[in-house]
Amino acid sequence: MTESFSQRYQFFDQHPELADFRADIIQGLSAPEPYILPKYFYDEAGSRLFEKICSTQEYYPTRTEVNIIRDNINDIVDVLGRDCLLIEPGSGDSYKVRLLLDALRPIAYLPIDISKRYLQDEAQKLAAEFTWLNVHAVCADFTGKLELPYHVTATNKVAFFPGSTIGNFLPQQAVTVLEEIRKMVGTDGGLLIGVDLQKESSILNAAYNDKEGYTEQFNKNLLVRINRKLGANFNVKQFKHLAFFNKEKHRIEMHLVSLRKQVVHIDNHIFQFEKDQSILTEYSHKYTVEHFEKLAEQAGFQRVKAWLDKDRLFSVHYLVSC
Ligand code: AVI
Repeated sequence: MTESFSQRYQFFDQHPELADFRADIIQGLSAPEPYILPKYFYDEAGSRLFEKICSTQEYYPTRTEVNIIRDNINDIVDVLGRDCLLIEPGSGDSYKVRLLLDALRPIAYLPIDISKRYLQDEAQKLAAEFTWLNVHAVCADFTGKLELPYHVTATNKVAFFPGSTIGNFLPQQAVTVLEEIRKMVGTDGGLLIGVDLQKESSILNAAYNDKEGYTEQFNKNLLVRINRKLGANFNVKQFKHLAFFNKEKHRIEMHLVSLRKQVVHIDNHIFQFEKDQSILTEYSHKYTVEHFEKLAEQAGFQRVKAWLDKDRLFSVHYLVSC
């Protein structure tokens, strides 16, 4: 018998307090090389802008990963197995998981996201669309300690971590994030993860400087959010978007660069920016398949299989916790 929507959809709020946001912003802007943590991109407006980035011509990762999953869906389901508890840290619009659900038939899907309203909207849409699916949405910051909202035993737990979000962490932090995921899925649990690959700089630089300007708006939305939430007085027009591939470090770096000398206030904190001084907003590391697998091994995961597109732009890996 099909259960009703209210039985199938549940919401668990583990949302971090505003105090965390304020403290993180003040700490980051006070550092000798100012930064803003990239997790703060994703308020409702930022999450919508990220969706737009994903559909631009230049941003190849989304469509390439989707095609890899579509082209290999039977193989993927074979290695993951059916009836798992499917957990997605940083679920966003839950777009990619739709590719898996019908074939995988998980006992429940647990999207975890930091953006509360957006998560509720997207998780409810999904529960309405897949009328057989249990959706247990968890509003939480997955970069902290990851705890499931209830205790499950005797079920195969699989985490789905697409989009190369792992690239947004420094390699050592990425190991910690993978370790947290491993604890969450437990021994014998699995991880299906998307990882962007190293390639020509021109392709990478274009992907983070789309012509329509969505990446620029996404970057600047951080300042809009700080103004709105913390009563700051950033003059957004006086900062420019900068994104480039750093070849030595194999990563895209995204910054907001001050166009002139200026002062910004948050409560009684005063931040002075020189002309050309930058605020670091994101790293996006690009790996080789081998390098990523070594990183995953350090976190206690073992390779089962990896799928790539024919141009070797992007990779999807299935790993098990050992
Ligand atoms: C979410 N993350 C993997 C994206 C990336 O490519 O690093 C975020 C992004 N930043 C700018 N464009 C997309």
